[in-house]
Amino acid sequence: MKEASRTVHAGRELVARSPLAPDLSPAAVHVYTDLEDYDAVARGDRPGHYYGRNSNSNRAMLEQAVAELEGAEAGVATASGMAALHVAILALAPRPVTILATRELYGGTLALIRQDLEPAGYEANFIDMTDLEMVRRSIAGAGLVLVETITNPLCRMPDVEVIASVARDRGVPLLVDNTFATPILFRPIEVGATAVMHSATKYIGGHSDLVAGVVVGDAGTMVAARARSVRTGSNLSPFDAWLALRGLRTLDVRMRRHSDNGIALARALRKMPGVARVHHPLLEESPSYEVAKRLLPEGAGGMLAFDLDGGREAVQGMLSRFEMVRFAASLGGLETTVSYPEITSHRALTPDERAELGVGPGTVRVSVGIEAAEDIVADFAQALAS
Ligand SMILES: Cc1ncc(COP(=O)(O)O)c(C=O)c1O
Repeated sequence: MKEASRTVHAGRELVARSPLAPDLSPAAVHVYTDLEDYDAVARGDRPGHYYGRNSNSNRAMLEQAVAELEGAEAGVATASGMAALHVAILALAPRPVTILATRELYGGTLALIRQDLEPAGYEANFIDMTDLEMVRRSIAGAGLVLVETITNPLCRMPDVEVIASVARDRGVPLLVDNTFATPILFRPIEVGATAVMHSATKYIGGHSDLVAGVVVGDAGTMVAARARSVRTGSNLSPFDAWLALRGLRTLDVRMRRHSDNGIALARALRKMPGVARVHHPLLEESPSYEVAKRLLPEGAGGMLAFDLDGGREAVQGMLSRFEMVRFAASLGGLETTVSYPEITSHRALTPDERAELGVGPGTVRVSVGIEAAEDIVADFAQALAS
């Protein structure tokens, strides 16, 4: 099946009289009449569900769907993207190791490493993952490599294909946060990643109406991830799983529109007053252009950033003039939204740390929605015309 068809059907096996759309099953517990049957289901030897923290039919459909789309054997759906990241790290590195991570990590991921994992004995080495020589030099001694397909907010692209082969040669597991690209645009497991996680809050859910996470990978790693999730109680609720699967059904069409609108806005922004720089992986001037063309041949999704002359005051001026675009500290929804990394995703960093990453007081991140490209471009044009 082609990607578009798999997106519509993945995770479900319909038989005669199956509901075409999945039923919602909020049950916390299932009844049994036979102790041996319960035992077999609890051991995982027979299909079925017994307690909602361990498994649930709606969660199982979502897990299977994302695993199928990513080309993975299995998946675990969690209460948020952060929970997915946490169980993935603990599944791949159950004992403290050095985590070799991209220095442009999502702020929440950085905070998890610094505030929860480092005190527990993990060490972190944050490097510029677009520098492959640096990756090759730094991998010795690492127990886990962590990268994001497209970095936040400056939309750089580490060459995940090369990083996967370096990690594989060294026997180091590679975890990829594929939230920005989604399996429609890029499938890290196909190029050798060990596991992939998503904040399903973003594009997979797609409608800004749920918080969820999914991690997928080989069956063994997912058994370990599920065990962590069950023990820590980070399971996704049935309703949010149901909603996320409903959102995922349109992921293919949405990602294509997000991608078209994203590059259209990126090109238009280059010519708007006060815009010093536009960051989009498929703009010719992007340092990641060559990697993006190879790894994202069908588009780069809806994320971009730009630097506005005049810093915070200019950003506030633009915000107050927007007529359709909204300020919101998330991404991946239908609506075009902007966020301001200095006080949103990167607020935990010091000004010096932000400056080192290239995030300044004029940096604006845009999650380009699926409205008509002309309307999106027109709203930025009028908001930036002073
Ligand atoms: C790239 C990326 N990874 C992970 C997360 C965390 O996801 P959640 O907010 O669903 O916990 C986010 C949230 O913004 C994100 O942007």
